[in-house]
Amino acid sequence: MMTDAELMAAAEMASRNGYAPYSGFLVGAALLCRSGAVYTGANMENASYPAGICAESSALSAAVSAGEREFCKIAVWAEKTAWPCGICRQRLLEFDVKEIVLLRDGRIESFTIEELLPHGFRLKI
Ligand code: THU
Repeated sequence: MMTDAELMAAAEMASRNGYAPYSGFLVGAALLCRSGAVYTGANMENASYPAGICAESSALSAAVSAGEREFCKIAVWAEKTAWPCGICRQRLLEFDVKEIVLLRDGRIESFTIEELLPHGFRLKI
């Protein structure tokens, strides 16, 4: 079983492929699936700022596109603490990504999706 530190290391590696010419803030994410597979993603900005995609959404999209539907946890790496944005929280909730592993002051800390997005909107029963 993969440790949080290993998942975070994969997120850091992924951040190196981030495309962030506007903010200069590179972010990487690594999503561990129930299958054991890990999908990574990095942020991808755009000259039309709202068209940018966060690292978490990139990783989730890669995994879902590959057919994955069950997830354990996602690690997010950034030089400074990156709390997932509201849209990414909503996307993680949709797929029941239960645990979000972040770096705070250089330490690995983990949060549940319920902590990050209480009373989140769902249509799925
Ligand atoms: N960003 C992420 O990729 N994930 C987060 O959790 C926070 C923010 C990106 C979006 C944008 O490319 C850059 O960080 C600065 O906001």
